[in-house]
Order: sequence, then C-alpha cells, then structure tokens
Amino acid sequence: MIEARHLTKRYAGRTAVDRISFEVGKGEIVGFLGPNGAGKSTTLRMLTCFLSATEGTATVAGYDIYEDSVEVRRRIGYMPENVPLYPDMRVGEYLRFRARLKGIGHRASRGAVGEAMETCSLTAVERKMISTLSKGYRQRVGLADALVHKPELLILDEPTNGLDPGQIRQSRNLIRELGERHTILISTHILSEVEMTCGRVIIIDRGTIKASDSPRNLIRRLRRPGAVLLEAKAPATAAARLAAIAGVKEVNPSEDRDGWTSFSLTTDPQSDVREAVHELALKEGWKVRELSSRAASLEDAFVDLLKEETPSDPVESKT
Ligand SMILES: Nc1ncnc2c1ncn2[C@@H]1O[C@H](COP(=O)(O)OP(=O)(O)OP(=O)(O)O)[C@@H](O)[C@H]1O
Ligand SMILES: [Mg+2]
Repeated sequence: MIEARHLTKRYAGRTAVDRISFEVGKGEIVGFLGPNGAGKSTTLRMLTCFLSATEGTATVAGYDIYEDSVEVRRRIGYMPENVPLYPDMRVGEYLRFRARLKGIGHRASRGAVGEAMETCSLTAVERKMISTLSKGYRQRVGLADALVHKPELLILDEPTNGLDPGQIRQSRNLIRELGERHTILISTHILSEVEMTCGRVIIIDRGTIKASDSPRNLIRRLRRPGAVLLEAKAPATAAARLAAIAGVKEVNPSEDRDGWTSFSLTTDPQSDVREAVHELALKEGWKVRELSSRAASLEDAFVDLLKEETPSDPVESKT
C-alpha cells in the first residue's frame, strides 16, 4: 500500500528525514514511533503530499506521490498532528463541507457524513459548534474527516494526543475496528496502545529507521535481564538461598510490614526461575503471597533501541 524509497527532507541544512525506505502492506496496522523531532510528522506529510520531499520517492496504492498526487490523496485519509477545524461551523456542516471538498456529491455526502459520525460517536454533537467541543471531540471530528471519503489507507498523526485515559482506550478500540477495513499507518507516543493494536512498528530516530518489526519480536530481541518478584515470609538467610538458584544473578530484599519481605530477583535474560523459586519456598516452608515475573514491554524495547545511539547531534546537516 505504501512504498517509500530513500525519502528525504532537508530544512535549511537540517536533515529531518534521511533517506528512509519502508513498506506498508495492504491491511496492515503499522505504528510509526520515535522521540520528539524524530521526523515522524515530516514523513507522514510527505506521504500525504502536503510536503514535497527533497529526495527520494514514494508510492501509495501504486501511485507516485508527485506524479499522481490527486490519486494518492483520494486513497488516503489523513489526520494531521494539529487538526485544522473551522471553529464557527457545526460538526455536521463541517464534515459535509469536507466531504464535498473531497469530491463526494451533495446527496452522497449526507450518507457518508452520517456514517463517519456514527463510527466516531459524533452523532450526538452533530449540531454543536466546533469551537464549543472538548479536545477529545475535536480529535474525533478530525478522524471523521479522515474517514469520510472511505479511503483505503488511514494516516493518523498522534490521533490520541491530549486525550484522557478513557478516551485513549476508546480510540484504541476504534482503531482496531478501523483496521479491519483500512490499512493504517499511525504515529503515537502511547506505546501500550501500539502494543495492542499494531502488527508491526517502525521506529524512527533522528530521521533514520532504527527498527521495523512486530512488537513481540522487538521485545524478544531485548537483551535486558529478566526480573522476578517474590513476596514471602522468610528468614534473613533466604536472600542467599535465592541467589544460589541457577539463573539468578542478584537478589534485593526489602522488608515489608508484619514479617513479609519482597525479594527482587534479577535473572539471566532467557531463564525463567519461578519454578525453582517456588520449589525452594515449599521446601523451606516460606509463606508466599506473590511470585511473578515482570515481562518486558514495548516501552522497554523502545528505550533500549534508542539508547544504543551515541548522543551526538544528528539533525545537523549530513551531506
Ligand atoms: N518547517 C520546518 N522548518 C524547519 N525545521 C522543521 C520544520 N518542520 C519540522 N522541522 C524539524 O524537523 C525535525 C523533525 O520534525 P517532525 O515534526 O517530523 O518530528 P516528529 O517526529 O513528528 O516529532 P513529534 O513527536 O514532536 O511530533 C525536527 O528537528 C523539527 O525541528
Ligand atoms: Mg510529529
């Protein structure tokens, strides 16, 4: 659906996006991640023909972003970082106006807008002025706008920016639902959201791609040690006994109340020591109220990947 080749954007000597190449297949939900200033929005704006690339090229649904920008735009629903809305228009009125701009006929636009409002739970505010809407509702109007012409591909730039936790959860479900009918490229900083919705993530940093893989594989590639927590009523000697278990590298006990102790175990990356810990506790007659392993998250993988870089200033021009 998307094929980018050596896509590059330079702003007055600063390289914001540096020869990136990637693909997004039909039906995929791809998360586009990276720290602030990494070049996410710049890339998305090039793909949606709002910004011309300095070098390189891309095609969307087989159409070139330069030569066939009209065809490209027809196939993309784009929700930019700052959704531009007309504050003095009513929600329904605005969306019908947008639908007409996108070439949908007068009669068809009513149905299309109705559907988009339904999908984004906007029907109740159809007659409200945009200026009176909360941030969350404005975001939804932006999404309805992106959907109204039923594009094959949705490009969403931080659609959950500024939403409360409840709304983030709602939008996550909505994105999953939309993923059944659309290919989606979504940029966000909410990694738990990506972990649950995206089949693949592309991580960009300082204008170059650092990784492109499923969240699962990225987590698996982490070379960080494992962590196990044991909360038990055990004597002072327990720490040494735990440390003797194969695979355990370090034990940090911390006294809780009423004789309970929390033991944080650092383990080798690939070993799961929970069974051995359980056996030891049984044998010694320790009372246990928690034994758990802390699974690594996409956030861990993300932080780890970006840490590998030397902290030089990379956005400076590279020629
Ligand atoms: N119009 C512009 N003129 C000059 N530099 C720009 C312009 N737009 C963006 N940049 C620079 O390009 C780099 C990439 O910006 P971009 O907005 O693509 O980052 P981003 O990954 O979307 O970040 P964020 O997570 O903060 O949205 C930044 O260093 C930014 O300062
Ligand atoms: Mg951005």
